[in-house]
Formats: sequence, structure tokens, C-alpha cells
Amino acid sequence: MDRPTFLKGKNIFLGPLSKNDDLEGYATWLNNQEITLYMGSGRFPVNYDALKDYISSFQNSKEGMLLGIFLTTNSKHIGNITLHQIDWLNKFAEVGIIIGDEESHGKGYAIEAIRLVVEHAFNKMNLRKVYAGMVHGNEASKKAFEAVGFQVEGTLRKHFYLNGKYLDCYRMGLLKSEYK
Ligand SMILES: CC(C)(COP(=O)(O)OP(=O)(O)OC[C@H]1O[C@@H](n2cnc3c(N)ncnc32)[C@H](O)[C@@H]1OP(=O)(O)O)[C@@H](O)C(=O)NCCC(=O)NCCS
Repeated sequence: MDRPTFLKGKNIFLGPLSKNDDLEGYATWLNNQEITLYMGSGRFPVNYDALKDYISSFQNSKEGMLLGIFLTTNSKHIGNITLHQIDWLNKFAEVGIIIGDEESHGKGYAIEAIRLVVEHAFNKMNLRKVYAGMVHGNEASKKAFEAVGFQVEGTLRKHFYLNGKYLDCYRMGLLKSEYK
């Protein structure tokens, strides 16, 4: 059965996940301490039941969406992206991303996925702002969001504990009016 495409890019496409999907890759990423180094996940182990519950929590939700990131060439599941914490009054939402498949790192897939979700947020959902947060030191994440036009709006001081240090976190944002 073909996987449904929700948002189509050049090298990747984004589609809904189901709790009946093969979740081995997803579980592997979220339990991999290198992948989750700068993420809130990774503090506690994640099993298949927890992933299924997480996927189901987005079903019929109007407060957020979870999309798998798949390679156009072979439909390989390489990561996930979320548009969540949707605030319909103030018209903003948060973007979160993981490219869990290490072979897929550094190929521009994060940038492409963020662009697809941002354009959907602005052009189809009538949101006017998107934001993201990342730990100081997560250069790949900061650069990916910068490439789409996000700017640093503030710093959360000593916000994330890692290896004996409390690290600062960036808060980045992008307004529809400044998106090119
Ligand atoms: C952060 C992450 C999503 C980036 O995904 P990616 O597909 O490898 O990123 P891209 O290939 O689209 O590259 C984005 C930018 O980061 C740069 N980059 C990629 N890997 C990098 C690395 N290890 N160190 C520094 N910069 C890096 C790229 O050169 C690119 O910058 P450019 O536009 O100036 O050339 C991915 O590394 C990841 O999922 N990491 C683990 C989870 C995580 O940290 N998520 C973000 C939480 S906010």
C-alpha cells in the first residue's frame, strides 16, 4: 500500500504516521543517546507502546500535527516533524524536527522539511508566526532553521542540563510577513 503524501517536496515528502506503522526506526532514534543529545527525549527510554500513544495523541487533533519525513526515492522513513502548540487566537505554532536516520544527515532534508511545514502553516492554516527552540551547541538545528529564515528572538539562560553543565537555549521565530 502506498504511503499517503501530505506535503510533497523534491527530495522528501511528509505524511501522517499510524500506530500500525513499522516503528523500529523511530524507536531506535529516540533511544539513541547521540541522536537525542540536545533533545528532551533521551532522558527516559521509549518503548513501542509509548510511541503508539504519542502518534495516536495527534489523531483528529486541531492543536498539533506529527508528520513522518520520507525519502522521495524509496519512501524510507528518515525522521519526523511536528507543528504543535498551535495557538489559534494568537496564530502561532512551534516546529520540532528529528532526522533520526544518520545516513540522511547533512543532505538538506531538515531544511526542506521545515520549509514545507512553514509554508503549510502560513498558506493553508492561516498562522502568522512559527517558532522553534534549540540548545546552544546544536549548530545543525540552528543553521537549519536559519536557512528557512528563522531569527533568534531570545535566550533561555542555563535552561538545559547536559554533561555537568546547564546550557542556554535559543528561541527562534519567523513571521509570515518576513518569509521569502
Ligand atoms: C538538527 C537536524 C534536524 C539537522 O538535520 P539535517 O537534515 O542533517 O540538516 P540539513 O542537512 O538540512 O542541514 C541544516 C544546516 O545544518 C548544517 N549542518 C548539518 N549537520 C551539521 C553538524 N553536524 N554540525 C554543524 N552544522 C551542521 C548544514 O550544513 C546546514 O547548514 P547550511 O544551510 O548553512 O549549509 C538533525 O541533525 C537532527 O535531527 N538531530 C537530532 C535531533 C535534533 O537535535 N533535533 C532538533 C531539536 S531542536
